[in-house]
Amino acid sequence: MGAVLVTGGAGYIGSHIVRRLQEDHHHAVVLDDLSEGHRQAVPAELLHVGDFADRDLVTAICRENKVEYVVHMAANCQVGESVENPAKYYRNNLVNSLALLDAVRDAGVKGLVFSSTAAVYGEPVQVPITEDHPTAPTNPYGETKLAFENALEWYRKAYGLRYVALRYFNAAGAHPDGDIGEDHDPESHLVPLIVRAAMNPASPLKVFGTDYPTPDGTCVRDYIHISDLAAAHVLALDAMDQGTVDGASFNLGNGEGFSVRDVIRTVEQVVGKAVPVTDAPRRAGDPAVLVASAGRIREALGWEPRFPDLESIIRTAWNWHRRNPNGFNG
Ligand SMILES: NC(=O)c1ccc[n+]([C@@H]2O[C@H](COP(=O)([O-])OP(=O)(O)OC[C@H]3O[C@@H](n4cnc5c(N)ncnc54)[C@H](O)[C@@H]3O)[C@@H](O)[C@H]2O)c1
Repeated sequence: MGAVLVTGGAGYIGSHIVRRLQEDHHHAVVLDDLSEGHRQAVPAELLHVGDFADRDLVTAICRENKVEYVVHMAANCQVGESVENPAKYYRNNLVNSLALLDAVRDAGVKGLVFSSTAAVYGEPVQVPITEDHPTAPTNPYGETKLAFENALEWYRKAYGLRYVALRYFNAAGAHPDGDIGEDHDPESHLVPLIVRAAMNPASPLKVFGTDYPTPDGTCVRDYIHISDLAAAHVLALDAMDQGTVDGASFNLGNGEGFSVRDVIRTVEQVVGKAVPVTDAPRRAGDPAVLVASAGRIREALGWEPRFPDLESIIRTAWNWHRRNPNGFNG
């Protein structure tokens, strides 16, 4: 397989995919505008700083590096913000992503792996959620991701651009080496928020909703280790390159649900400290339970998670936060 361009490669998930591509001896190039990502998260020689909607820049990077495939990670990804500011999400996640598609087609790129999300399903009507579950997003974030998935299918039919869309559930954890990990500002993801609350008892964790119809009343989610997520991207690229998979959407999760209180308890065990907690009302649009059926990707790509249990996910997250209490700033 030729070179792979990773848009958003300086972000949380993107930096782990770049690392995995390097570990597997693939040639990776990164395009990130550093609006959310971190320069220190990727090797300097791979990083191009710029907007993925800049057609001339994308075409030049693809031609210079003989890029054959793209992993399109770059996006805005805050559900709440997408409801308050849908224009930002339609522009970056949809309009800009369509500009990227035109540029990569011009440059003769063969295919693209797209970072999609469980948010394309909306409120689940059945759990675990299979890929055939109805898609009915409840916010502009999920809506724009679904619209781009649909565009990919039409582009595949019309122009032969190959694609695999990966619908992530909750990405968590850090590279086992502990030198790259999750560092968002503001942080909205549960695992880093709990670990930070354990490290700083003055900032308790807010538990949004304790009256859901779940065993302990808190929301249940499916957590997937960042290294397992990264490995799935390389499998998808290889399968597209070998011509065994094309035009497919796969769930990426472990198929097991953990409540907010389960995650808090596991962090307390791993870190060895109590997590201060305050109960808060439910947030609008948070489904009670989101758990993936990931059978399709196991079968089609032979994907097998190496870190399927919550404790090992949290151990790697703790290792990163312990070594880098201020994230990439030290
Ligand atoms: N983190 C999760 O649990 C999760 C779950 C489902 C889907 N996803 C998807 O995975 C992808 C990555 O998520 P993440 O958590 O790593 O987010 P992130 O914010 O850490 O990474 C996104 C990266 O994209 C870059 N970017 C944004 N707009 C850009 C633009 N116009 N040009 C160039 N670069 C741009 C940002 O600087 C950032 O580095 C996103 O597409 C997100 O929707 C994430």
